[in-house]
Amino acid sequence: MIGGVYRTDVQTYGRGLEGLVAGTTSIGYIDGEEGRLVYRGYAVEELAANASFEEVTYLLLNGDLPDDYQLDEWHHEIASWRNPPEEAFKALGRIPNDAHPLAKYRTMLTVAACHIPEADATDLGAQQRRPARILSWAGSLASAAIRHLHNEPPVPPRMDLGYAAHFLYQALGRVPTEEERKAFEASLIVQAEHGLHAAAFAALVVISTGADLGSAVLAGMGALSGVRHGGANQLAWEVLEGLEDPDHARKWAKEKLAEGYRFPGFGHRVYKCPDPRVRVMEPYAEALLRSKGLENRWETYLALRDEVEQALGPRGIFANVDSITGLVYHPLGLPPSAFPIPFCLAIQTGWMAHCLEYLPEGRMIEPGAVYVG
Ligand code: ACO
Repeated sequence: MIGGVYRTDVQTYGRGLEGLVAGTTSIGYIDGEEGRLVYRGYAVEELAANASFEEVTYLLLNGDLPDDYQLDEWHHEIASWRNPPEEAFKALGRIPNDAHPLAKYRTMLTVAACHIPEADATDLGAQQRRPARILSWAGSLASAAIRHLHNEPPVPPRMDLGYAAHFLYQALGRVPTEEERKAFEASLIVQAEHGLHAAAFAALVVISTGADLGSAVLAGMGALSGVRHGGANQLAWEVLEGLEDPDHARKWAKEKLAEGYRFPGFGHRVYKCPDPRVRVMEPYAEALLRSKGLENRWETYLALRDEVEQALGPRGIFANVDSITGLVYHPLGLPPSAFPIPFCLAIQTGWMAHCLEYLPEGRMIEPGAVYVG
């Protein structure tokens, strides 16, 4: 390095920056060979079985699980923001009903953020006050964006439900059953953090410039929406919905494998083994589908998963989390275009944790390029 500038002739980089390390973190650990995902030292399987989404958000943002008093405070802080600025809901009226719910929610969050007193403040205290508000607004705004697909009005908030149940209450207009709430909450927990994936890195770049946490989350949302990333759960479900039964799934997969088709919901930059989030979510999906008389969907999914994994598994391509979450969201009654929303609600926790962790570093992220012109 000469005068703060790295010599480009001795650097190497992978396509899509594969293998490049962008920093250190104490938030999440991913083992892509053994299929392990750990948040602040806790295995994701353990958290999905025993913790609430609020506990996991507290853990990711603060470094440890809350005690009873801290959890109560955190719960109240999040719940106190369940009334986003009215202007954000008015903005929905200017957006076509069939626009994608993630795009609507992104627009609403931008409008809401312009209507708070400390909108421009970027001191550490202001940044640290933002996660509870962003998490809470997200539930109310995103559920309104989903209901707007069918021109249904937003459902007013209540204070007596936890985050997962309250989101479903506002999105569906009914309190979920305990089985539904548990399955949905587990999906939020397993999707709450995933290292410096593309969307988290997009958020980190924005926070590094001195911008506010809301702008960083909006950047993450833009990155997440792509079909190679969080948009894949909608596509994966749409593929499955087009398959009549297990035999059809096997036949279709064989044809597509021969064509070199890229199956949505399969493959991952880090996992070259079965995705641990799939293992956690499959029992919830199976139980929910069977309880709603949708066992054919479950069996068709298994046939597709097995056919693709048998062929591509030796190359490290397995079902990823986006192949399974739709099998929970569909029986709950959410429309396919809404599927990326819960993913976004959950994973923005990780983005915010990474951004707050990076802030003391205080240096703008700005890579170079090798000039080949
Ligand atoms: N189906 C078939 N082949 C695949 C798939 C797939 N789903 N994913 C990767 N491959 C193949 C590619 O065709 C390529 O083959 P080649 O070497 O013969 O050209 C090879 O595997 C490597 O593919 P890349 O795109 O370079 O691998 P990358 O690490 O960038 O892939 C990605 C990761 C983008 C997720 C990819 O697996 C994919 O497109 N999957 C489908 C979309 C999807 O499910 N995205 C969600 C990922 S999870 C998440 O973001 C939350």
